[in-house]
Amino acid sequence: MPVTVLVGAQWGDEGKGKIIDFLAEESDFVVRYQGGNNAGHTVKIGGEKYVLHLVPSGILHERPVCVIGNGVVVDPAAFLEEVSALELRGVRIDGRLLVSDRAHLIFPYHRALDEAAEAARGSDGKLGTTRRGIGPAYSDKAARHGLRAGDMLDPDFPQRLRQKVEEANRLLKALGRDGLDAGLLAEQGRELAARMAPFITDTISLLHEALAGGRRVLLEGAQGTLLDIDFGTYPYVTSSNATAGGACTGTGIPPASIDRVIGVVKAYTTRVGEGPFPTELKDSTGRMLGETGQEFGATTGRPRRCGWFDAVVARYAAMVNGIDRWAVTKLDVLDSIETIRIATAYRCGGRTHTAMPASVRLLEIAEPIYEEMPGWRQPTSGARRWQDLPQRARAYISRICELTGVKVGMVSVGPAREASFKTDM
Ligand code: IMP
Repeated sequence: MPVTVLVGAQWGDEGKGKIIDFLAEESDFVVRYQGGNNAGHTVKIGGEKYVLHLVPSGILHERPVCVIGNGVVVDPAAFLEEVSALELRGVRIDGRLLVSDRAHLIFPYHRALDEAAEAARGSDGKLGTTRRGIGPAYSDKAARHGLRAGDMLDPDFPQRLRQKVEEANRLLKALGRDGLDAGLLAEQGRELAARMAPFITDTISLLHEALAGGRRVLLEGAQGTLLDIDFGTYPYVTSSNATAGGACTGTGIPPASIDRVIGVVKAYTTRVGEGPFPTELKDSTGRMLGETGQEFGATTGRPRRCGWFDAVVARYAAMVNGIDRWAVTKLDVLDSIETIRIATAYRCGGRTHTAMPASVRLLEIAEPIYEEMPGWRQPTSGARRWQDLPQRARAYISRICELTGVKVGMVSVGPAREASFKTDM
């Protein structure tokens, strides 16, 4: 049962795109299972940089068929734009990219509602969303009045879209916002539907046929465990299940078919948007990590908050995802640090927590308990094998493995495709 799930084990931006790109070479299918164009997966090939938001990173390899699963929310305009941009750069899309007929759709009113909700929360209460309409689209899905990709194939789709825009306009007006032009959006919806039609199909049957034929499938998560709607730092989370369970509900592949889960962790921690972040560094070390690691959101360009590696977070992610191996990314960013810290527990509310507290109030006041390790203070970016890493860098990764109970399977030491290597996978 050659199905691999790849999940982010922190707050997103762990470098999943790069690891997916690496693993895609040995996959027949690469499937996105949740999120939408809030994600930004960056892949560097040769001198070229690609940032993918909706299209699975597997598209950059010749072989795999790429699938956008039923758990994803698809903004058709953003999707088609991304496809055109890839085609312009010579990436072959034809017949290699499919969208589930059960995937829910995002339209401009979802983005307008996302904006309006953020503004209504005010500067103290805002979540710092990407404003791509993700929350409102998943809300429509849960409230059972969303539109799905398969609906685009029905002749009455423009009328249904028009009705949805009119409903959304009532909400927008109640929030003090201008309504959108329902007639225009319905017309645009007709054009989008015609262009989307060749991509839309029953991806569930397709994937089951693939499994029956022994094909290798890689299920790619977006965001990360701490942004998961159930397991993350609620309410500072995204609106879907970024964790391994979401790979089943977001693709139709059953749990028993999954044979390994790879967790991607940065060698330190970052977070973009609002919400608690116990190991955050607001000092020169934090700034150095941000600059050296080029920590700017791939979707919004916002600077990412940076901090030390948090073993409480990683242990929790290992537990809820059933992670078999770590892929540790951006190790090279720590090359110049004299003493590196790892959080092993938090002190908050007069107690020591080794498990991840549910309460964001507790997390906001949590004081990390750190252990320190000597830095290796030499470049790692040329390493291509485990043995090439300085002894202290190996000791650092080994300590992360000990603290989390998960072995390392891959390490990445730079942005280029060739700067990732397997250790024991
Ligand atoms: P939303 O997903 O746009 O609703 O945003 C909710 C939270 O998730 C915000 O804090 C975003 O910054 C964060 N978020 C969403 N997508 C990503 C991502 O791909 N990487 C990192 N953070 C993300």
